[in-house]
Amino acid sequence: MTNPAATQRKLRLGILASGGGSNLQSIIDRCQNGSLAAEIALVIANVPGAGALERANSAGLATRCIDHKSFNDRQTFDREVVAALQSAGVDLVVLAGFMRIISAVFLKAFPQRIINIHPALLPAFPGLHVQKKALDYGVKFSGCTVHFVDGGVDTGPIIIQAVVPVLDTDTEETLAARILQEEHRIYPKAIQLIAESRLRVHERRVLIEPPVESSPTPLHNPPLD
Ligand code: GRF
Repeated sequence: MTNPAATQRKLRLGILASGGGSNLQSIIDRCQNGSLAAEIALVIANVPGAGALERANSAGLATRCIDHKSFNDRQTFDREVVAALQSAGVDLVVLAGFMRIISAVFLKAFPQRIINIHPALLPAFPGLHVQKKALDYGVKFSGCTVHFVDGGVDTGPIIIQAVVPVLDTDTEETLAARILQEEHRIYPKAIQLIAESRLRVHERRVLIEPPVESSPTPLHNPPLD
């Protein structure tokens, strides 16, 4: 007998990247080992030769390189990207180190269907050079955030965050590496929650249904005695 759950259409992802693609890799790995009920329909990079394209090709995924420099303005570039995503039948757009601001054209084509990962605990330190900002500010914790994309820069409703301690010995590089490890864990989890249709956005809050018990244990850095 056919199991209806097994034959259900998987969530189709369109992943956009500009760089090395380690977050893309974590999603590829989870799709391949079956812990993420989604499939990658298309990987788009805006930078020719981006490591993300190489990773996608090695995994046998469909890829497109759409170089933003070949377009006169953001809207025309976004229209091309949206057309590629739509013709690949993408349900959810996953920005994985995609260093371009999304225009209204893009947002309108995928309402509440674009997510991003940011290497800080938003709303602290949006934008670029975040590890430097965190170290300069002297925070004792930083981390990473997966959020829905809206019209602002790193401002959309937050889906999941991971907290990472900042050590006295940290440099931008060591802090970024510690945060990146957590990015690779929370991004697939956020996508899985969407694949299971478990997220409900109420004003700024993203609620999980059915609710999950989360640990009420506070964190301290430096630790208490
Ligand atoms: C990650 O730190 C992500 O949070 C930021 O860009 C970086 C991309 O890394 N938006 P990778 O290309 O996934 O390795």
